[in-house]
Amino acid sequence: MASRPRVAHTLSALHRALARWRDAGESIALVPTMGALHEGHLSLVRLARRRTRRVVVSIFVNPAQFAPNEDFASYPRTLDTDAKALAEAGVDLIWAPSVETMYAPGFATRIVPEGPAKVGLEDAFRPHFFGGVAIVVGKLLIQCLPNIAMFGEKDFQQLMVVTRLAADLDLPVKIVGAPIMREADGLAMSSRNAYLSAQERAAAPTLYRMLKQCAAAIARGDRIARVLDEGGAEIEQAGFQVDYLEARNALTLGKVENAADGPLRLLVAAKIGRTRLIDNVAV
Ligand code: PAJ
Repeated sequence: MASRPRVAHTLSALHRALARWRDAGESIALVPTMGALHEGHLSLVRLARRRTRRVVVSIFVNPAQFAPNEDFASYPRTLDTDAKALAEAGVDLIWAPSVETMYAPGFATRIVPEGPAKVGLEDAFRPHFFGGVAIVVGKLLIQCLPNIAMFGEKDFQQLMVVTRLAADLDLPVKIVGAPIMREADGLAMSSRNAYLSAQERAAAPTLYRMLKQCAAAIARGDRIARVLDEGGAEIEQAGFQVDYLEARNALTLGKVENAADGPLRLLVAAKIGRTRLIDNVAV
C-alpha cells in the first residue's frame, strides 16, 4: 500500500517541504482543490505526475468564494478519505491550511478580476465568486510557487480567470488545463453531485446530453439562438432551472452570433432541487 502523503497545516511546514525539493532541483506541480475528491480531481493529479517530479494538492474550502446563502457550511469535508486517495495517486504533499492561516485576523486585501471574470456567465449568478477564487488561487500560487498548476476545464471560466490572473501578476507558473472527467452516463464529476437525490441524479445527465446535441446542431450549421432555445427548454423539462445555456468564443468567452465567431464553447449552469451544476463542451 502507498504510504500516506505528508499533510502540511502551517505555512512553515509547507515551506520546509517545498524548499527541500526546490534545493534538489525537483520540479513541482500544484493541484488546488476544495477536497471531497473524485476521479476528476485525481485525473489532474495523474496529469501533474507526468509533468513534474513532485505533486502538491491543496485542500481548502475557501469561504471567500461562497456567498452567505451558498453551501460553505455543508460543503463535504473528507480529509481522511481524500488523503488515502491521494496516497494511491502518488501525491507527495497535501497542503491543508486552516481558514485562520489563509485569512489571518486583519486580512484586508482583495483581487478584483475582470476580463474573463466579467462576461455574464458564472459572474452574473455568483457575483462574489471570482473575487474569492482569485484571492485564494493567488495566495496558493505564491505560497507554493510551483512550476505548473493544474485546473479542470469543468470550471471553464475559472480556468480562463486563473490563466489571466497568473499572467497579469507575472506569477512564474504555467497554468495547465485538463479535460472534464465524466460518470459513465455523461454527468460531469463534481463534489456537489453528492447532494443529488436519486431522482435528481437520474435527470442530471440531461445537461451533457443536451450540450452535445446542441454542439452537433451548431456544427451542422443550425442557427445558434434557436438551437440553444430548444436545448434550454429540454433541460427545463428534465426538471432543471437553467441559469444560462450559451455559446461563447472559447478563447475570450465573448458573445458570438454564429459559428464563424468560433472556436466555440457551449456552457451551461442549471439548478435541480437545491443543487447547482455546471458543464461545458467544445463545438
Ligand atoms: P474544486 O471544485 O474542488 O475543483 C478543483 C479542481 O478540480 C478544479 O480545477 C476543477 O476544475 C477540477 N475538476 C472538478 N471536477 C472535475 C472534473 N469532472 N473533471 C476534471 N476536472 C475537474 O475549483 C475549485 O475547487 C476551487 O474553485 C479552487 C480552484 C480550488 C479555488 O478554491
